[in-house]
Amino acid sequence: MRDLILKEILQEYDDLRTKEREALRQRENQVMDTIPGIADLRRTIIELMAKRSIEIIKNPHLSAQAVDELEERISGLKEKERELLIRHGFPADYLSMHYRCPKCEDTGYRGDIIKEKCSCLIQKILERTYQLSDINDLERENFDTFDPEVFPDVPVEGSRLTQREYMVQLKNRLMDYVGKFPNNKRKTILFSGKTGLGKTFLLNCMAKTILDMGYTVMRISAYKLFNQLFLSALQDNEENLFLFNCLFDVDTLIIDDLGTETQRNNFTNEDLFNILNERFTQGKHTFLSTNLGLTEIKERYSDRIASRLFDTSNTMLIRFTGQDIRVRARN
Ligand SMILES: Nc1ncnc2c1ncn2[C@@H]1O[C@H](COP(=O)(O)OP(=O)(O)OP(=O)(O)O)[C@@H](O)[C@H]1O
Ligand SMILES: [Mg+2]
Repeated sequence: MRDLILKEILQEYDDLRTKEREALRQRENQVMDTIPGIADLRRTIIELMAKRSIEIIKNPHLSAQAVDELEERISGLKEKERELLIRHGFPADYLSMHYRCPKCEDTGYRGDIIKEKCSCLIQKILERTYQLSDINDLERENFDTFDPEVFPDVPVEGSRLTQREYMVQLKNRLMDYVGKFPNNKRKTILFSGKTGLGKTFLLNCMAKTILDMGYTVMRISAYKLFNQLFLSALQDNEENLFLFNCLFDVDTLIIDDLGTETQRNNFTNEDLFNILNERFTQGKHTFLSTNLGLTEIKERYSDRIASRLFDTSNTMLIRFTGQDIRVRARN
């Protein structure tokens, strides 16, 4: 199953590169027709680049100075090409390949000798394998679409701020947090609060920013996660191992709606503890949301889990209060 998914994704990368090469060829033709002299310039650049490669292969002892001289000539001509493009109203990178992922140049793999899966490939495998919540969520729910107006501008209990002011402050704090990602002192964030207060929305905001920075993010509801773990424990071991690897390896694991999972007592407790503990040990980020209060969490899960989750040297506990904005929207 996973081999098929991988094959399908690699084919998509292939198609993407083919499409991009064709688009580049068309841009080249357009530019050649518009800017006199650029064709010769481009030919010279390509010849020099070929010469540089041949010289290096033929003569491994070629002096660094000779290589540098060639490099300098190439970059001088490239600069000239860019100037010509700009002067004729084209973007400076018009004659370069446009990659979705500059890190792997849309191949899915990074590294010259030892090839490693690029984070964009891992992310795609994750999403297809577990059919995680729609990626479109993140187009709708991100820091740019955060709307303070959805929150009532009335004071919330136990705070001198209104719900709106509180949420704006929280948004700024979390933007600051992801701005420093992955170098955060505290790697676990727990959102606790009643329904309809904007927890999932803010988790999505953080997920989008972290994904855009090129890290992997697995977003999953607790219900789905523990069901999947339960089912894969009954199935073959390889599938189970893959899921655990993902849960341990992703840069950020987001478990939404903790407390909605089917209670299978020891089973859920064991898995949750292993996930939290392993990620804590590896210094990885885990964000969770729950409708449960802290006392309810303590009652529902084992002491080991509570002490991991409530260890404030590694966890930011964030309380959501106020009016349910879903109800508000309907009124
Ligand atoms: N900052 C925001 N800007 C615009 N819309 C928002 C914002 N926060 C939340 N919403 C919208 O309000 C609704 C409720 O928010 P959300 O799903 O995040 O609540 P929640 O706290 O996760 O609730 P639950 O505990 O039931 O899962 C959603 O439709 C969401 O898109
Ligand atoms: Mg939610």
